[in-house]
Amino acid sequence: MINVAIDGPAGAGKSSIAKRAASDLGFIYVDTGAMFRAIGFYMIRSGIDPSDEEKVKEKLDGAEIDIVYEDGVQCVLLNGENVNSLIRTEEVSDAASKVAVLAPVRKKMLILQRNIAKNHDVIMDGRDIGTAVLPDADLKIYLTASVEVRAQRRYKENLEKGMEADIEEIKRDISERDRRDMTRSEAPLKKAEDAVEIDTSDMTIDEVTDEIERRIRKVR
Ligand code: DC
Repeated sequence: MINVAIDGPAGAGKSSIAKRAASDLGFIYVDTGAMFRAIGFYMIRSGIDPSDEEKVKEKLDGAEIDIVYEDGVQCVLLNGENVNSLIRTEEVSDAASKVAVLAPVRKKMLILQRNIAKNHDVIMDGRDIGTAVLPDADLKIYLTASVEVRAQRRYKENLEKGMEADIEEIKRDISERDRRDMTRSEAPLKKAEDAVEIDTSDMTIDEVTDEIERRIRKVR
């Protein structure tokens, strides 16, 4: 199996690029952020503060997460329910980043993620894929972009979805999430030593996708 790891902060372009490359090359795209989002969503729905570590740990066993593919699209099942359309809000982004600091949450996700990668050619994106989940990946990419560019991208996405958006607020949310994801003790976001770093600030999605597909073809 060929395993490609793509890590980087929120808004660097990971999911758009990984999705395209996977479809072009016949890989499965695995969005690991969606799994943490499903756990965050479960806690909100259960009336639990995602920062309340003890309560989150107590409740964790009640959240069964499965990943299935329908027409090539990843669906995250939470206790059998497809929650794809419920996990893209700012509230859930924040909750995901908060529950993701906890070791039992990460352990549960790691098992699920490794199982998928064992059985398929995957392009998996997240924060700790190259460093913790797939340390022996055939190719590791670390995608970055400036906070300004990432906030601008999220702002545009929100407007396109018809959601209200405030660029300064988005910038603050992204910076706070970067800080939490990069400074936690469990599998923090950082570039793996053997990862190729690509700064996408001044690149189009097509340019980045081409560059990554070229690198994947080399390791195939
Ligand atoms: O990629 P995303 O924005 O959907 O991820 C949501 C949050 O989940 C992110 O802020 C941190 C956490 N996460 C993580 O800790 N490890 C991963 N492999 C993927 C996401």
